[in-house]
Amino acid sequence: MIKLLIVDDDIGICKVLQDFFEIKGYKTFIALRGQKALDLIEKEKPHLVFLDIGLPDISGLEVLQEIRKRDAAVKIIMITAYDEEDKMRDAEKNGASDYIIKPFSLEYLNEITLRKVYKQLFDDLRLKHSKLISTFEQIVFTLAKTLEKKDLYTRGHSERVSQYSVDIAKELNLSENEVIIMSQAALLHDIGKIGIKDNILNKRAPLLEEEMNEIKRHTTTGFNLLQIIKSFREHAIIIKHHHERIDGNGYPENKKNEEIPFLSKILAIADSYDAMTSDRAYRKRLLPIEAIKRLIMGKGTQFDTMLVNVFVNTLIKKQVVTPDDIKRLIYNDLIIQSLYYNQANG
Ligand SMILES: [Fe+2]
Repeated sequence: MIKLLIVDDDIGICKVLQDFFEIKGYKTFIALRGQKALDLIEKEKPHLVFLDIGLPDISGLEVLQEIRKRDAAVKIIMITAYDEEDKMRDAEKNGASDYIIKPFSLEYLNEITLRKVYKQLFDDLRLKHSKLISTFEQIVFTLAKTLEKKDLYTRGHSERVSQYSVDIAKELNLSENEVIIMSQAALLHDIGKIGIKDNILNKRAPLLEEEMNEIKRHTTTGFNLLQIIKSFREHAIIIKHHHERIDGNGYPENKKNEEIPFLSKILAIADSYDAMTSDRAYRKRLLPIEAIKRLIMGKGTQFDTMLVNVFVNTLIKKQVVTPDDIKRLIYNDLIIQSLYYNQANG
């Protein structure tokens, strides 16, 4: 319900306005003096104020400035007589939404003035909504950064994986919403590692089976952590399955082909590529073309064939590799395969 404060020393005007707006469903308050108006602003937090310029105790313009200090969002419509138009321009400079000149028709007030105020209220709401979205994004980034501080060898990993995933999603013309979810899920994909001991996470020697199992649990830990928050539910599912394989030999649920969420399949490729092209505690980075070779070798077993092709295309577009590099790679691979074939059959 919209709350309306009417400030005028003429009780007759107050009553007329009150009756008119109460019928229309507003909750109204009346103040005959400036000080009373300021008290009601604090106490009732109205959305809209009709404020007379000539009040007996504090001038309307002073009341306006005081209201603005206490509440930046409230909409204020000044009420005045004909000879005070200069003051009204001052009032608009001081944050009044509009002014009306006595005598005014109630219908004019309702139709013209309120439409303007509604538009402003709506714009304010939109601004608040966009601020909320950016707060949400900040939380996503903070969580991802916290994790990366813990794992010395994955600095910048989440952001790069997010960029690769978004490149693939855009190449596929996914919707804007899917691209955003893809980007955020990729930023958070290893959030479940937050529960893993530092000595395992940063171990230089090969991991024992038990340690490897603890690392693998990051998929379900991440899922459990994120699915509590309603706005992270879709992200949680994508993250849970980012280590599944097309052939069903992945984890945590051995899902195959179409059982694996589509965005998880994109994430798996982006994640593997960045892992291969980054230094880790136990090995040096591979060159992009070497990493691509492994992605191509994993088509249809570890990775989705179509998505690997799309990813390679994005890398060509970004000039990480050239089409000739890829041709050579496939050609050499064919020669190696035929050598094996000849050996096996010769
Ligand atoms: Fe992972």
